[in-house]
Amino acid sequence: MPETTTTLSPRALLERWDAQQAAYVAHRESRFQAMLDVLRLHLPARFHALDLACGPGSLTDRILRAFPGARVTAVDYDPVLLRIAGEALGEHGQRVTVVDTDLVRPDWAAPLAGEKIDAVVSSTALHWLSPLQLLQVYTALADLMPAGAVFLNADHLRYAPQQTALKALSERHDAEVRRAAFEAGSDTWDEWFALATAQPGMAPLVIERELRFAERPPQPLAPLHFHLSALRTAGFTEAGTVWQYLDDHVVFARR
Ligand SMILES: C[S@@+](CC[C@H](N)C(=O)[O-])C[C@H]1O[C@@H](n2cnc3c(N)ncnc32)[C@H](O)[C@@H]1O
Repeated sequence: MPETTTTLSPRALLERWDAQQAAYVAHRESRFQAMLDVLRLHLPARFHALDLACGPGSLTDRILRAFPGARVTAVDYDPVLLRIAGEALGEHGQRVTVVDTDLVRPDWAAPLAGEKIDAVVSSTALHWLSPLQLLQVYTALADLMPAGAVFLNADHLRYAPQQTALKALSERHDAEVRRAAFEAGSDTWDEWFALATAQPGMAPLVIERELRFAERPPQPLAPLHFHLSALRTAGFTEAGTVWQYLDDHVVFARR
């Protein structure tokens, strides 16, 4: 008997992505809420945000729902996730633009030159960049963002090996959260990808995805102090943390 795959709408895939990601990020909604609070308190009602490595669109969707006057440019390099984001976010009409962008390319920001960008956000993604690539991205952002614009990055910024107790606490907590989420029925990362890539029309995008990410091994992880120093070095006026749970942080910077 051939295996059958459930056909899901892009919105249903996004919802299952959210449940899957919550297994790996303990307080993901609280982290998003902290980012939305900063945007609400810092920006005027109408603003343009750039979502770096948007995946299927979780953070972009939350910004567009929370702020009727917002517009978001959402960028990613994974053709499967870009397809889902483009379709799942379609209900927001012209308030969202989904763009195929490789953040590792030195000229990734060139198409955005001349755009007024009030906020740059990212979640669970910039750990894919090496420390050098991060500094390059922050430098490109500093060129792109006008004075007063804000940057918010939510990500696990792992403790150093010598922080043995903190590291052990974080790892035990991560394991507990994953176990509870999977027992409650959420997909693992592999299960979600198997489901997404089996959807009608995805086959060529899966091949393209494999080609694009073939030579992208995990990068050395940049600690919190590296992010803060790199942002200041790149030209941001202030940098600090606005939310933290164990090793999970939301880093803030103001241009
Ligand atoms: C764990 S997902 C997070 C997606 C989304 N921000 C969220 O929080 O649900 C990491 C994302 O980083 C993207 N990514 C990795 N390397 C990238 C690159 N060089 N350029 C753009 N996006 C990249 C992946 O394609 C993926 O969508």
